[in-house]
Amino acid sequence: MKILLVTYPGGPAAKKEPRLLGCVENALGIREFVESKGHTLVSISDTGTEMEKHLKDADVCIATPFWPAYVTRERIAKSPKLKLLLTAGVGSDHFDLAAAAERNIDVAEVTGSNVVSVAEHVVMQILALVRNYIPAYEEVIGGGWDIAKVAARSHDLEDKVVGIFGMGRIGQRVAARLKPFDVTCYYYDNRRMTTVEEQVVGTRYMPLEAMLPICDIISINAPLTPATQEFFNKKRLASLKKGVYIVNTARGRIVHTDALVAALKSGHVAAYAGDVWYPQPAPADHPWRTMPNHAMTPHVSGTTLEAQKRYADGIRDCLTRFFNGEAMQRDYVIVEGGRVASPSYAYAFEKKK
Ligand code: NAI
Repeated sequence: MKILLVTYPGGPAAKKEPRLLGCVENALGIREFVESKGHTLVSISDTGTEMEKHLKDADVCIATPFWPAYVTRERIAKSPKLKLLLTAGVGSDHFDLAAAAERNIDVAEVTGSNVVSVAEHVVMQILALVRNYIPAYEEVIGGGWDIAKVAARSHDLEDKVVGIFGMGRIGQRVAARLKPFDVTCYYYDNRRMTTVEEQVVGTRYMPLEAMLPICDIISINAPLTPATQEFFNKKRLASLKKGVYIVNTARGRIVHTDALVAALKSGHVAAYAGDVWYPQPAPADHPWRTMPNHAMTPHVSGTTLEAQKRYADGIRDCLTRFFNGEAMQRDYVIVEGGRVASPSYAYAFEKKK
């Protein structure tokens, strides 16, 4: 069998750091394992022509969300041998899930592998925005000492209202980590937690339209599906409280690119952070690189060295089961038996019927 891995190039960093398992050179540490089973592993970072060439006769395609292989309906149609699509990480929107289901191609991801890594990044970026950290840092680098300029946009996080859109594994960890900051935390999700769960995590459910206008900070933690694509469009951004901070570590396409730039320029959104873009890698002239008041990072929150070990182990587990003809670990399954089966994704796909 041919296993195709599409992931980010390691470059000089990969030579110095063997724990950078997710890069193309280190190939999730699975090369020996795959070859010992008599299969072939092709590890590439090209997401265009070379990927299409290899996909045509691949049985399995593994992709990392940080450097996504966009396995579209058209590409699936040209890949007759494809049986399994695996995400080395969490978030499988780079695969056309509906097209995979129609072709009976299974899709799985390493659920939970990097949720702590992302939650920590969210808390870091909330603090960076609210405390006005990036301009303060730039003041130091630029040789200045303008206290007033930096302090004029700096606040305490205490007593702020936080709204979490998508209260799954990451959302819950964000809420739990924000508890000691004495914020008021609400959430919206199409699956409601029990009262006890809400108390443990430190949050309360609120209908979406009631929650959005009262939040000082919004954290976006829902998957990208047909229901969430460009969910934060011009109209919805206008419905947010003036001066809101937004942190989006879910997917770039959940927020409308140009509407966000306009909302930051007008000041309606005070500042924006996150690490997800569309497309990825973001082109050099992507408008989010230069929009005002942002604290964006490239897509790195879920790929700490610890996370890379966890998603590499998860991929090895998926391949072992696949080679042995066994079922995938249940909470890894996104598409199975010709339908979108993951509870986090199914809602959006069922609604479309
Ligand atoms: P999860 O599946 O545990 O939780 C997602 C939650 O979103 C679920 O509770 C689900 O019911 C909810 N949801 C789905 N559609 C919704 C809608 N239309 N409105 C409101 N809520 C909705 O997933 P997890 O692990 O918390 O990850 C969430 C997303 O974060 C992933 O799908 C992925 O896109 C992104 N992610 C980003 C990473 C990064 O490195 N930046 C790493 C890991 C995940």
